[in-house]
This record gives sequence, C-alpha cells and structure tokens, in this order.
Amino acid sequence: MSDPLFTSTTLGTLKLSNRIVMSPMTRDRAGPDDVPNDVMVEYYRQRASAGLIVTEGVQPSAVGKGYWRTPGIWSDAQIAGWARVADAVHAEGGQIVMQIMHCGRVVVPANRGYEADVIAPSALPCPDKVPGPDGVPAETALPRALAADELPALAAEFATAARNARAAGIDGVELHASSGYLINQFLNPASNHRTDAFGGSAENRIRFPVMVLQAMADAIGANRVGLRFSPGNPYNGMDVANPADTFIPLLKAMAPLDLAYLHVLDMGLAEIDTLAMVRANSATPIIVNNMLTADTGRALIEAGRADAVSFGRAFIANPDLVARLRTGAPLAKPDYTKLYTGEEQGYIDYPAMDAAAA
Ligand SMILES: Cc1cc2nc3c(=O)[nH]c(=O)nc-3n(C[C@H](O)[C@H](O)[C@H](O)COP(=O)(O)O)c2cc1C
Repeated sequence: MSDPLFTSTTLGTLKLSNRIVMSPMTRDRAGPDDVPNDVMVEYYRQRASAGLIVTEGVQPSAVGKGYWRTPGIWSDAQIAGWARVADAVHAEGGQIVMQIMHCGRVVVPANRGYEADVIAPSALPCPDKVPGPDGVPAETALPRALAADELPALAAEFATAARNARAAGIDGVELHASSGYLINQFLNPASNHRTDAFGGSAENRIRFPVMVLQAMADAIGANRVGLRFSPGNPYNGMDVANPADTFIPLLKAMAPLDLAYLHVLDMGLAEIDTLAMVRANSATPIIVNNMLTADTGRALIEAGRADAVSFGRAFIANPDLVARLRTGAPLAKPDYTKLYTGEEQGYIDYPAMDAAAA
C-alpha cells in the first residue's frame, strides 16, 4: 500500500502532490517597506517540494503589523515582491498560500517604522511581551477599542489582502485565527469584553471572524480560503478555559462557507479531543500541526483524523523535508539563534540532503 504521506490530495482548488505542508513561520527578513526580497524568494523556492507552503504571517494593512520586518500585502511593491515568490514556487512545481495575520493589540510600535493605530476588540493590553527591533522582549501598546461601525471596513481589508495575494499569483490565503492575534482576540473572552453584538456570548464573539471569512471567500472564492486556529492555546494572553464553547459554534457557522481547509494547531488538550471535535462539526478537510514526525503524521492520516499534516521547525533546517521523510534520512536541526535574525544565515543556507552528503 502506498504511503499516505506521499499521495496527492485536493483542498478546495489547491492540488497537493503530497500531504506534507509547510506550516506558517514568521522569519523577520522582509526588505524596506515590508516588501518580500531576494532571500525570501530563495527561501520559499528551496521548500517548494512541500505539498503546500503556507507563508509566514503577512499583514493586510499597516495597522496589522506588530513584529519586526514582517511582510505586507497592501502596497503595489509588496504585491510585486510576492509575485516573485509565487513564480519561484510555481516554477518548482509547488503550491503556496499566504497567511493573513493581523496582530491587533500584539504590537511593539518600534517594530513598525511608521506611526499607525493599534486596534483590538477591547482596550485591553496584551499581557505578554513580544520582541522589539533588537529581539529583546518589549511591552506592547495599549490598543484602542474598535467601534462596531468600523468592522465592515476592517473585514474588507482582509478581502482586499486576499485579492492582492491572488493578483500576485499566490494560490490562496489562510486566515490566522490562532495565537492571540486580532481574530483570536475577538474569539476569546480574555481580550473581548465588548457589550455589543461582537462580544459576550460565543455567538457574538464569532461574528467578526465569520464576517472576515465571508468577505475573503466572496473576494477570491471559498475554495481558496483556509482558516488556522488552535483551541486552548494560551499564547498572547488567551483564556484557555472551555474552548469547545467557542469553537463548536465557530465550526458550525463556517460550515456553509465550504472553505478549502482548516489548519488545526492541536494543543493535545486533556479535556477535549480537538481533532474529533473539528471532524464532528465540519466536513472541511483538515491540516493537522504540532510537533509531528513522519510516523505520527502518517498515523493521523491513516486514522482519518487528518487530510494533510504540517511541519514548522523541521522545514527551517530541511528545505528538502519531503525527500528526507520519504527516504528516512536524518533531519538537520535548526539554529534557534537565527529564527528571526541573520538574513541569509540560518535561512537559505541549510543544504539539501545530497549536497549535505557531498
Ligand atoms: C520561527 C517560528 C515562527 C512562527 N510563525 C508563525 C506564524 O507567522 N503564523 C502561525 O500561524 N504560526 C507560526 N508559528 C507556529 C508554526 O507554524 C507551528 O505551528 C509550530 O512551529 C509547531 O509546529 P512544529 O512542531 O512542526 O514546529 C511559528 C513557529 C516558529 C518556530
């Protein structure tokens, strides 16, 4: 029987030649004005044998930026930069979707290089520090609470980002609803203290996230839109209690959208079987992530718990991860001092297997 990791599959209109997905990873190497540059083109080109690449988090607007040197998808120069990335990946036979990440309140203003608003569902600061320009953890800004009548225009910014990604030749988009960023800030009661139709009950807290997904789906087709989420993830000050109370209504509300995929960062919670919860409440294909190996990933697919599996850190040091998993070759270890710094180093200088053997 053929190894399910290396069989093809489809997620919406995305055609994967294998079920090994590159998980989104912020690497802080964008050029001036948050434009994708030569090293980014090379980095993604090297990893194009993945069945699907999900890019690092990309801000849909200037206001969406919170970290140092993250790329955008709102200016003409940024679109042109991403077109070079898309072309390079396609020339190698790969597929690539862009993760749209709006930081909301998770902003160190010095990381931006310009003045702009900091926004969130409520005027509550992120309790965690995040790295500033020098990599040292710094306080985040106090956000301004969004007015309800601003939300349709904000959702439209995500739709424009999706359109811009497609204009660049990127195959689809993934909405980042995990890890305490804007969409997660709406979903989670710790960061959403609103008393209007967008806060309080789960039905209200999911309203803006669903509005954004609908806008993105209307813009480029739901079959090119994925959603990343992580029930019970505490990152950036999220409340981890009773995640099913929020995520079951979210999954049910999304069902009619018929998205391309759900990308589940599975925390391995004791209180709920996250993957079973997702399957029970959605017919959408699932990409599963978190600390997987070839064996655990294969087992998830064989058990019907995943349609594809994603790898983050393993792709950093192994541009040819698919070939290594196929042959059982050893995996190189990433240099953790160069995750977010080093330009070419620790980024595009990890050799492929044959070169490593030579
Ligand atoms: C350097 C680094 C940057 C990351 N940036 C993002 C990001 O921009 N968006 C996101 O959804 N997850 C991000 N993640 C999380 C990964 O996508 C993935 O969920 C995590 O690394 C667990 O998978 P792994 O055990 O295969 O590495 C990042 C992880 C790392 C190591």
